[in-house]
Amino acid sequence: MNEKLVKAMNEQINKEIYSAFLYLAMSEWAMQKGLKGAAHWLYVQYLEEMAHGQNIYRYLQVRGDPVELYPVAKPESGWNSLLEVYRDVLAHEKTVTASIANLANISQDVRDHATSIFLEWYVTEQVEEEGNATDIIQRLQLAGDNLSGLLMIDTELSARTFAPPVVPGLPPAP
Ligand code: FEO
Repeated sequence: MNEKLVKAMNEQINKEIYSAFLYLAMSEWAMQKGLKGAAHWLYVQYLEEMAHGQNIYRYLQVRGDPVELYPVAKPESGWNSLLEVYRDVLAHEKTVTASIANLANISQDVRDHATSIFLEWYVTEQVEEEGNATDIIQRLQLAGDNLSGLLMIDTELSARTFAPPVVPGLPPAP
């Protein structure tokens, strides 16, 4: 694969793992606040982000290109409310969307059609990621300072299930 694309793909692995750590930190914050449903939702998000990184790792291996693992930065902490947490989720996902778009642009510039197709899954996933966060922010805004509204949303968040994300055409890990 093109060298610039391989470097950007390796950097994306790091961004996905950082995303995982950020959501794990948010999950811990929610657990400390007694918001177990949100803690669960954010933990599932952590698992998904790890899988996003793992799937790029696997893709590079299948293409025969070197994987480079970089240090993962310490995630943010110290939110004041669940609404603030989800506003940060959305803001973070927007940065990831931009990063994926940049990868897709590079793959098109270097005419790497296989990688362009691989990245389509990520482009679509980002629409869902931003949509989920936006939806939860709207509901938290509706609840405002109403504690029973917050607890109802927390219960809804506890229903999230985890299914390992499958990128079409990617052979399983060894
Ligand atoms: Fe892997 Fe939330 O983007």
